[in-house]
Amino acid sequence: MSKVKTVFYCQSCGAQSPKWVGKCNQCGQWNTLVEEIISTPKTNAWTDKNKPTNKPVLLQDVADNNTQRTTLPDAELSRVLGGGLVAGSITLLSGEPGIGKSTILLQLALQLKGTVLYVSGEESEQQIKLRAHRIGIENKACYILSETDVDLIFQQAQTLKPHLVILDSIQTLFTGKIESAPGSVSQIRSCAAELMRYAKETDTPVMIIGHITKDGSIAGPKVLEHMVDTVLHFEGDRNHVYRILRAQKNRFGSTAELGIYEMLSNGLRQVSNPSEILLTQRNEQYSGISIACTMEGMRPILIEIQALVSSAVYGMPQRSATGFDLRRLGMLLAVLEKRCGFKLGAKDVFLNIAGGIKVEDPAMDLAVICAVLSSNDDMPLPTKVCFAGEVGLSGEIRPVSRIEQRIKEAEKLGFSRFFFSKYQMKISGLQKNTQIELVPVAKVDEVFAQMFG
Ligand code: TYD
Ligand code: MG
Repeated sequence: MSKVKTVFYCQSCGAQSPKWVGKCNQCGQWNTLVEEIISTPKTNAWTDKNKPTNKPVLLQDVADNNTQRTTLPDAELSRVLGGGLVAGSITLLSGEPGIGKSTILLQLALQLKGTVLYVSGEESEQQIKLRAHRIGIENKACYILSETDVDLIFQQAQTLKPHLVILDSIQTLFTGKIESAPGSVSQIRSCAAELMRYAKETDTPVMIIGHITKDGSIAGPKVLEHMVDTVLHFEGDRNHVYRILRAQKNRFGSTAELGIYEMLSNGLRQVSNPSEILLTQRNEQYSGISIACTMEGMRPILIEIQALVSSAVYGMPQRSATGFDLRRLGMLLAVLEKRCGFKLGAKDVFLNIAGGIKVEDPAMDLAVICAVLSSNDDMPLPTKVCFAGEVGLSGEIRPVSRIEQRIKEAEKLGFSRFFFSKYQMKISGLQKNTQIELVPVAKVDEVFAQMFG
């Protein structure tokens, strides 16, 4: 095999250097040199030598090869992927350490019908076996490989011909073609490039686990994100049992979908009715609590919002929000102050979204405002009331998307009143035969008048 030539490039000015140096000789920047391959031997273990070279074809002549999707036993994962795993696709699953990345993919490997190769560079075979015991699913076609050299992994994959390859994790893999340590940018990039070639040429879906660094970027400065077909992010508060799987990029589907899981002692359980778990079941009503009907992807979710407003003891009033955009909270408070005359300028405001979930739907605004005002006046909101509306800068309640679906979900969960934008009434022509009482409102102050009348 011919020797691979590598050279070090400065990422700041592009200067070349045959060796790694801490400071670029050209521009004087520190730590900017990255190793790159400049010539690769043409033969890879998996390359078919008789493969014809590609020629340009007219788009209209390209055969309509409906993307082959394998529906996964894990319905939540299937939906987030856009309806199943596409043959020859590369999926990156990122998340913080300990969130459950290895668990979800091992669970998938055990549930899937067909041969799966689970490569782990992090855990030994015994450790994986222990985890599989914990999950408690029997599977006779799940192969475990404890290996970190991609070339050796490909050799094994070639003989095994699995239906799915899982790699845990990209940061532990290395290729002998590059000298830098596993986990370095150039190693991650060239390993991912080889995995991509493997996936495309053998039509095998590949799933890669990638760790996230403290600042939230996937280690190896996002190099992976644009190379792969799908980027999934597994998130959640480690102290809460709920985990959320989001698609950040998906070449085969929408990125609006989301999957919710619950971490149990025997693996991850899919949560198919999120509203029921996110609403606290209680009888007495406290002030500062309201229920918002939000949409996550195609699915309506009812979420409890808690607010606490108290006089600021120290000079500067505090505003703090968990699971909600702090700047948006600031804006809503300003609207209340300026347009509705509530004096919140000298108050501390704390906002919390129950369940450790982060939501970015503007339809939460109305519920947030109601929670804040309820806590400010120390008046509990009536039970069984739920809100969906965006609040504009002049205090008007604006329409939100998919109102029918939201109303249906609220109705299903036994709510009796639903507050929404008056302007929506005209647009959507809502059907009147609903059990739930629909309350259209145009202004923030109207909401309170309606409620306490
Ligand atoms: P893990 O999949 O190892 O996380 P990652 O690969 O993202 O680093 O899972 C980590 C946590 O999950 C660990 O703290 C233990 C917990 N866990 C359970 O609660 N139940 C289980 O059945 C399993 C397998 C793990
Ligand atoms: Mg792991």
